[in-house]
Amino acid sequence: MMEDVKKYQKAEKTKKKREEIQKIPWYYDGLENLCNRIHPTKQMLRISDIKQLSHDTKLFRFVSAKPQKPLAPFRAGQYMGIIVEINGVRTSRPYSLVSSPNQLAYYEIGIRKKAGGFVSPYLLENAKIGDVIEATEPMGNLFYNSLFHGNNLVFIAGGCGITPFISMIRGITEKAIPLNICLIYGALSKKDILFKEELEDIQSRRDNVSINYVLSEPDPNWKGECGFITKDIISKIVGNIDDKYFYIVGNRAMYGFVDAELQSLGVPKHKTFFEAFGVPEDITQVMGWPKNIELGKKVQITLKFRQLGNEEEIKFEAPSNEPLLNSIERTGHKDLVIENGCRSGECALCRTKLVTGNVFVPPEVTIRDIDRDYGFIHPCISYPITDLYLDLTLT
Ligand code: FES
Repeated sequence: MMEDVKKYQKAEKTKKKREEIQKIPWYYDGLENLCNRIHPTKQMLRISDIKQLSHDTKLFRFVSAKPQKPLAPFRAGQYMGIIVEINGVRTSRPYSLVSSPNQLAYYEIGIRKKAGGFVSPYLLENAKIGDVIEATEPMGNLFYNSLFHGNNLVFIAGGCGITPFISMIRGITEKAIPLNICLIYGALSKKDILFKEELEDIQSRRDNVSINYVLSEPDPNWKGECGFITKDIISKIVGNIDDKYFYIVGNRAMYGFVDAELQSLGVPKHKTFFEAFGVPEDITQVMGWPKNIELGKKVQITLKFRQLGNEEEIKFEAPSNEPLLNSIERTGHKDLVIENGCRSGECALCRTKLVTGNVFVPPEVTIRDIDRDYGFIHPCISYPITDLYLDLTLT
């Protein structure tokens, strides 16, 4: 009898101890809410304003579609993925935030019409004030880091690549942060310069901001710099490069060109910072593309995924010269969702297990060693060059 009582008391003690360990601490709810607030998986945004920025670019303003859910904070220079469904195809594209990070009443992004594009023409032609759009949390690594980037920043923008810099310039000047900013902004012609009035207004009020345009197709009466952003132009505008940190945002062709110019000026690699590259216009022209693959070649993709808790397989054909993620999205299969953000191979959100087959990845894209070692690929920037077997149940 005594033995049983002792056993019972011991069991009770252990039970209490276990319950104590499992008790959720008082601050847990607060922390969880804070994490969700800073890193929401998705955000529902309502378009509150649309403004024409130039002949081919519009500025979209968004507020939270759920009044009880404030917008997630971000760092100037980051982007968010705008998710849309077009003719049954659910896809997303990253757009840099233009608005100042010092306020979260609204977000702004600039969208330029991309010739032959899928998402930007759709948004520019169809999105209207009041529409609710799904978006990712703000993400991306292009932002000012006071520990490593010093006080003298050079922003080199090409075309619509000005948008993250507008956010950075707003963020820095509104708070009068003592940083010197030199903007070199390449555009086709005067009518393609975005935010011109605002940039010149800031320059007129702040000694630490200098705005410089370089036009590649200027009007005859243009008196400023012309052509591409060459090392001579950079050197003339920036002067001594030793204490400068360079941020570059534009298209892939511009990255290659400006990178070479900066290198020939002697700017060390660790002092140049490029925005995510995006996908190449034509992958077959990228260095290393296997020339034996004939144009228009299609390969067979087999994809294993989970549907209502069961494992399913789907087979479809995909062109070799299209990012795999685009082909997967085009199947329009509702349960085939691959999370994505940058669509450039940078954020690793889309990582997918490649079981068999080969993909081509542009040489400048770096994939984490652990992903490569375990056979994971980033379908947003991978091109199928043989038949593939992918397993989405292993992410
Ligand atoms: S979407 Fe970022 S790596 Fe694929």
